[in-house]
Amino acid sequence: MLKLAVLVSGRGSNLQAIIDSIESGVLKGKAKVEVVISNKPDAYALERAKKHNIATAVFEPKKFKDKNTYELEIIKVLKEHKVDLVCLAGYMRIVGPVLLEHYFGKMINIHPSLLPSFPGLDVQKAALDHGVTITGATVHYVDEGCDTGPIIIQSAVPVKEKDTVATLSARILEQEHVIYPQAIRLIAEDKLIIEGRRVVLK
Ligand code: GRF
Repeated sequence: MLKLAVLVSGRGSNLQAIIDSIESGVLKGKAKVEVVISNKPDAYALERAKKHNIATAVFEPKKFKDKNTYELEIIKVLKEHKVDLVCLAGYMRIVGPVLLEHYFGKMINIHPSLLPSFPGLDVQKAALDHGVTITGATVHYVDEGCDTGPIIIQSAVPVKEKDTVATLSARILEQEHVIYPQAIRLIAEDKLIIEGRRVVLK
């Protein structure tokens, strides 16, 4: 059983998708969310975790002297819960070298574009601004860059003529909720290897 930590900052719909697929979907019998960690005390994701009796922890970066000290606290919790895989799900911070050193290859992220197009923030708006006709969602390993790590799964989403940021984001989010649990399942079943900048199936 793969032990997960989910790192969040807000709404937590991807956390919910992970929880739901553990309860009755592709992750049933494969994974367990041991702890949800937030950098924001008012993140709705924390409520979702509590509803499912999942342990939570909140660390506010401004209360620590620097990023390294902040991340060492997170690592302490990850170790306490013997976490195998850290899932970033709307965690709005760049992961620093301390956390990466401990969890490279054991930390994944979900991003609402077809990487390497549109890394960073406000990417649904960027997709509309560029007039792309296809965008999507990507699950990838986390490396030292911003949304640059080896890609695990992608799902393409069409952009429609009348799309707004809201309608496009909602269509992408549906796919996020499908592919994030699928990616975790591949890892739970030990099917992936990172080879340089790409991921290959064993
Ligand atoms: C998602 O679009 C995710 O791809 C991005 O942040 C958003 C988080 O949404 N990294 P939620 O908190 O999981 O609902």
